[in-house]
Amino acid sequence: MAHEHRVAFLPLGVKTTVADQERIFDAAGAAGLDLASECGGRGTCGRCLIRLIRCDTEPTGNEVHLLSQGKLDQGFRFACQTRVTRDLKVFVPDMTLRSPTTEGDPEEAFTDPTPTGNKKG
Ligand code: FES
Repeated sequence: MAHEHRVAFLPLGVKTTVADQERIFDAAGAAGLDLASECGGRGTCGRCLIRLIRCDTEPTGNEVHLLSQGKLDQGFRFACQTRVTRDLKVFVPDMTLRSPTTEGDPEEAFTDPTPTGNKKG
């Protein structure tokens, strides 16, 4: 019997359950999210950028090559290179979606997605 994990995609609030070792890219697809890709999942375009909340995944060589140390330290990874090995919360920047949910500055995607009480106004 295959082990399964729950994956929640933020800030969209979309959730799915996938088999152990499933790629986050495929988990997103299973959840109905269309992540961007120009390299067909080879880990070379960087279009499928996501951020792992509580990241404990070592980056791949391509991620080390294409992402700054700061981004790696913040938990940014490529969805096509990262496999699900436990329950995960994954932040999906708007720029990573083929159909963004909002119009906005891509830099806003890099702000800390950690809930802080949602102070608005
Ligand atoms: S699809 Fe190109 S790096 Fe993931």
